[in-house]
Amino acid sequence: MVKVLRTVKEIQEFSKAAKDAGKSVGLVPTMGALHEGHLTLMRRARQENDVVIASVFVNPTQFGPNEDFDAYPRRFEEDCKKLETVPVDAVFHPEPKEMYPEGYCTYVNVEGDITKKLCGAQRPGHFRGVATVVTKLMNLSRADRAYFGQKDAQQVVVVKRFVSDLNIPTEVVMVPIVREESGLARSSRNQYLSAEEKEAALVLSRSLQKGKAAFDGGEKGVETLKKIVRDEIGTEPTAVIDYVDIYSFPALLPIAKVEAPALLAIAVKIGKTRLIDNMILGE
Ligand code: PAJ
Repeated sequence: MVKVLRTVKEIQEFSKAAKDAGKSVGLVPTMGALHEGHLTLMRRARQENDVVIASVFVNPTQFGPNEDFDAYPRRFEEDCKKLETVPVDAVFHPEPKEMYPEGYCTYVNVEGDITKKLCGAQRPGHFRGVATVVTKLMNLSRADRAYFGQKDAQQVVVVKRFVSDLNIPTEVVMVPIVREESGLARSSRNQYLSAEEKEAALVLSRSLQKGKAAFDGGEKGVETLKKIVRDEIGTEPTAVIDYVDIYSFPALLPIAKVEAPALLAIAVKIGKTRLIDNMILGE
């Protein structure tokens, strides 16, 4: 059975005991509705640490007022069963009030360009919420390593930034994107998709593949590569583009040509569901 920690005091005591015993701690932060992507992060943490703590917390501060905080899938019992298969040692599953009690007023704000583009441009305040909760989770777990998916590549860049800036003694590990056989990147939000929408959503990975094929074939121009991806997304009539962008990776600086590793990232709405996906070119 996975040990469930619900309070700040419980997780602090749990991680203190681990650290006092000289054990390394791996942290895997999630919002639950766990799938193979999450579990891949957990297994990696299991391999590399003595003690693994997962967190399942739908973090209210990273959702905008018109986003899906209320609708976000919550299925903690199922999640616990999946966590047992890894297995992780403990799962931290607090109520919002435990994380943000009355009077709470401290936030981690990563300023500068890296939070203003891609998902940051579309979701103001999102990365402030992510940075705040991840800082708290790192403090609570005293993690030696914390695991994040390339699925949210900008999130990894932002987390690495504040971990470095705030001298947090946690190593940030990025794990590759886990996909379904169809190519669709695993996501808790895939559950919002109807069967037809799921089919339509294949255009995300397909368009990235087209972009990558053009790049591998010698096309280095960012505008041309973006157009190839946009045109492919355009073949799916129900898909609405939020953004198609290419930046240097991991710095996320604007570039005209892909001459070193670059992030090709897209956000596309299929019906009401906003999906993101990406590929790193020139790795
Ligand atoms: P969530 O969307 O639940 O994702 C938790 C972690 O799983 C993130 O690091 C995410 O990148 C990773 N992940 C999701 N789908 C993946 C996939 N298909 N392949 C690889 N990794 C995948 O991201 C969050 O939660 C939150 O912002 C959080 C970091 C927990 C802070 O609240």
